[in-house]
Amino acid sequence: MRVEGTGICDRLRAVGAAFEADGVAVPPLEGKLLRPALALALVPPPLRSALDDGFWAGALAIQMVHEASLLHDDILDEAETRRGTGTVVARQGVGPALVLGDRYLTGAYRAAAGAGDAAFLRVFIEAVERTVAGEVAQERARGRALSEADYRRVIRGKSGELFGAAAVLAAARCGAGTEAARALGCGAGALYQMVDDFLDYCPRAATGKEPFQDYRQRKYTFVLREAGVADFTRPTEAVHRALFTPGAGGRSAMERALERLRMERDRLTARGEVVFGHESGFAVLLAAWVAAAEAGFRVEVEAWSEAAEVRNGVATRPGGVAAARATEPSGERRRRRGPVGHAPAPEAWVADAARALGGPEAWAAYFGRHSKSFRFASLLLPSGPRADVQGVYAFCRFTDDLVDEAGAASGAVMRRAHAAALSDAAVRPPDPEVRARLEAWGELCQAAYQGTRTGVPLLDTVLGRMRAEGVPFQYVGDLLAGVAMDLEPTTYPTWAELEVYTYRVASVV
Ligand code: FPP
Ligand code: MG
Repeated sequence: MRVEGTGICDRLRAVGAAFEADGVAVPPLEGKLLRPALALALVPPPLRSALDDGFWAGALAIQMVHEASLLHDDILDEAETRRGTGTVVARQGVGPALVLGDRYLTGAYRAAAGAGDAAFLRVFIEAVERTVAGEVAQERARGRALSEADYRRVIRGKSGELFGAAAVLAAARCGAGTEAARALGCGAGALYQMVDDFLDYCPRAATGKEPFQDYRQRKYTFVLREAGVADFTRPTEAVHRALFTPGAGGRSAMERALERLRMERDRLTARGEVVFGHESGFAVLLAAWVAAAEAGFRVEVEAWSEAAEVRNGVATRPGGVAAARATEPSGERRRRRGPVGHAPAPEAWVADAARALGGPEAWAAYFGRHSKSFRFASLLLPSGPRADVQGVYAFCRFTDDLVDEAGAASGAVMRRAHAAALSDAAVRPPDPEVRARLEAWGELCQAAYQGTRTGVPLLDTVLGRMRAEGVPFQYVGDLLAGVAMDLEPTTYPTWAELEVYTYRVASVV
C-alpha cells in the first residue's frame, strides 16, 4: 500500500529534515512506510491530526532501523534486487551497504530519543535487539526445515518486533496497554512477513524482488511446511508445482497457506479492536496485505490453467478458452469434436459432474480463483450472503460450461472436478447430447427448487436457498434458455434480439 498523500510521508520527511540538519543520515522516505502506517492506523482518526513531533520522531526511528536492516539483510542474503532495482550491495559492494546501514541504525537511536517517551524508548531498544536476534536465528537455520514454533519465533523477531514498537507508539496516544499493543504489533509484523514469504512463490506477483529468492537463499517458510518440502535441492519449477498442485484434500499447499493468512488476519483484527477499543485502519491494513497474497495467488493459478489448456491443445487467447472458441470458424470447432463413444445417460452425467464440484468450501475456492469482479464486489458482503453468492456463481458457471465447454470443461479447477465424471473429457459431444444434458440439468434444478433432495450439493444448497429467499425459479429457466442460445451460434441483427440474449445470460444473474 502506498501511503504518499496520506500525510505520513510529509510528516516523516519534515521531522527527518530536522535530524538531517543535525548531521543524522536519514534514508529516502519513499518505500511503503508500513511501520509508520501501522502506528498511525492504530491512532483513532480524531486524534491523528494532533499528533506531535515526538510521535513522528518515533515513527521515523522505526523506519530508519527497518531501512538499515534491509541493507544488512541484502548483504547476508546476497540479494540482487529490492523495490524493483539493484540492491546497494549489488551495486556498490558490501562495505558501502554495511556502513550506510550502520549510519541509519545509529541515527535511528537519536530519532528514538527524540520521541520523548521512556516506555517507547525501552521497547524500541529491545525491538532492535530482537530484530537482530531473529535474523541470527534465521541465519543459523538456513538450509534446514523449522518447526512451526521456530519459524514463528524467527519471523516475530526479524519482522514482528519493529511493528510491535510502532504499535506501542500509538498505544501511548490513546491509552492502550503497552504490552498488549506490542504483542498485537508483533503479530501483525509476523503476518506481514508471512505474506512476503507467500508471495516469494508467486513469480508473477509484483514484489520488486526476484521470485523464489527465499528458496534459493535456503530459507524455510510456513508455505514449504504446508507442502511438506523440507529440502532446498529442487529446481524452482518443481517447488512451484509442489506448492500449487492440489493434494489429497483437493487443496494445494498455497491454498492452505492462504487460509492461514486469512485466519491470522481475522484473529488480529478482532484482537486489535479489543486492545485499541476502536475500529481502526489497522483492519484495513491487514486486509490489504492478505488481499495482495490472494491476488498473487490468483494470477498464478490463472496462468497455470492457461498453460494446462495450451498443453491440452485448446487455443487460448485473452478472455480464455470460451472467447477463443467463440471467434474460431464453426468448421474448425466441428472438426475438433470427434466421436463420443459410450457416453453415460445425460441425467447421470450432469448429476455426477455437478457432484464433483463438491460443497460450499470448494465453491468458495472456485469463486476465488475464477471470478475477479464478482469476487471483489463480494468482499463488501458479510460472510453469509457471500457464501450464497459463491454458490450462485458456481451454479451459473457450471450451467454455462455445460454448453461452452461441454466435454472439456473450462479452467483447470473445473476440469479436475469433472475428471472423475468424464470418460470423454477431451472430446466435445455433439449438440443433441449437450441439449439433452442441459434439459436433464433443468429438470434436476426444478426438482431441487421444489424441495426434492437430488443428492447434488450444488443443487440442493443453491436452489434450496433461492427458494427460501423467494428468488423466482423463472430466473433459472431464463438462464438455461440463454445458455441454450449458445448452441445456435448466430449474430443478433437488432439490439432487441441481442437484449434477449444478454438478459438471459447476464442480467438474470
Ligand atoms: C527481510 O527478510 C529482513 C528483515 C525483516 C530483517 C533483517 C534484519 C537484520 C539483517 C538484522 C540486523 C540489522 C539491523 C540494522 C537491525 P527477508 O530476507 O525474508 O525478506 P526480503 O525478501 O525482503 O529480503
Ligand atoms: Mg532478504
